[in-house]
Amino acid sequence: MAKLLIEGGVPLVGRVPIGGSKNSALAVITAATLASSGTVILDNVAPVSDVRDMCAILTALGADVRWAGPTTLEIFAGGVNHPVAPYHLARKLRGSTYIVGALLARLGEADVAFPGGCQIGSRPIDFHIRGFQALGADVALERGSIRARARRLRGARFYVERASVGTTVNMMIAGSLAEGTTILENAAMEPEIVDLANFLNAMGARVRGAGTNLVRIDGVDRLSGVRHEIIPDRIEAGTYLMAGAITRGSVEVTRVIPEHFRTVLLKLEQAGAVIEETDDAVRLTMPGRPRAVDIETLPHPGFPTDLHPPVVAVLSLADGVSVVQETVFDNRFAYTHELARMGANVKVDRDAAIVRGVEQLTGAPVEAQDLRGGVALVLAGLAAAGETEVNGLEHVDRGYVGLAEKLQALGARVRRVDAA
Ligand code: EPZ
Repeated sequence: MAKLLIEGGVPLVGRVPIGGSKNSALAVITAATLASSGTVILDNVAPVSDVRDMCAILTALGADVRWAGPTTLEIFAGGVNHPVAPYHLARKLRGSTYIVGALLARLGEADVAFPGGCQIGSRPIDFHIRGFQALGADVALERGSIRARARRLRGARFYVERASVGTTVNMMIAGSLAEGTTILENAAMEPEIVDLANFLNAMGARVRGAGTNLVRIDGVDRLSGVRHEIIPDRIEAGTYLMAGAITRGSVEVTRVIPEHFRTVLLKLEQAGAVIEETDDAVRLTMPGRPRAVDIETLPHPGFPTDLHPPVVAVLSLADGVSVVQETVFDNRFAYTHELARMGANVKVDRDAAIVRGVEQLTGAPVEAQDLRGGVALVLAGLAAAGETEVNGLEHVDRGYVGLAEKLQALGARVRRVDAA
């Protein structure tokens, strides 16, 4: 069990390069299996553990997947011929749900374990299943797996409940090779959806409207390999800016697209941060104690749910009381119990965290329960007096590569200890 040892109290100062978006990479890597000819080359892929697991699933399906560089993936999917994803792998991550859409589109059948991923609520896949059925597939849930069949998917009009990101991704992937047109109403508008559409269209698909709540996909017969660069990870960017905020330092994130996390920047400014931006970098300086702010998480372009735990860590030291309402997931508050061990005063009241700012946090041994809750504990440790030990780092490794090194480069006194 890996852990991070942090000696808190050092204002972080410096510049940190941001990697490719995990959530875009998981969708694009899956969509690469649709290419029956040619090789897909993906640049700016962050080798986080979820991405590595997804590559292993593709290999098991018959694709040739290799790292052609530290962040460059080469995928030849011409040989994809096996409709069963390894159960132990598919159940590890949420993104494996996309494999069902890709296999249905490519092979007409799929057998994929019910997905796993962070325990941040029930996270059903009923919208995905209804989507596959709308496209003409027979879907059964048997022995912990999703088993789906369709001679050829047929385009359909489909309403995406709750503007689900995963459902939108799945329907874009499956619809790309369906017969006829698929119309997605109430589609998710995240930047990762736009990145996927750009990739699909470069492969020969016909996806229009991505980034709006109405997406039209005209199915084609085949797709072929193409080179594509994954967009920067807006959640990683926000995380490092918040590391600068919580330690009252000055941190610049580079290789980012500020527009992708505009709401986050506005909220950090409301909390007292000074933000300076260029077209591919953002610097945050926190001159003093943060001010309390109220935040509601929403589908894009609202405040992203994935930065709810990190921003609560920042606000736990604010001057005043903040309310952070979580409207996307039904329970991603597990981290608040661990924050309390460090002296934070956070009360969960139904779907909201009431954060009464304290003067100081104190270091303690704490346990990461999920990816974003885990990184929130790291942020708290960076500001806390004394030593914090964040256990369960494998949760954090799912979404962050080189976290300790990047924090050390900003001046943090942090050391990673892997299992003995
Ligand atoms: C994606 O999860 C991301 N994961 C999440 O990031 C992100 O928090 C989320 O989108 C929202 O932006 C990946 O891209 C791999 P949803 P997803 O479908 O697709 C409910 C991270 O930390 N729902 O938009 O699972 C669901 O329970 C992760 O990087 C159903 O009820 O999110 C949630 O309450 C965490 N039935 C709401 O919809 C379904 O069939 C929105 O979920 C599907 C979803």
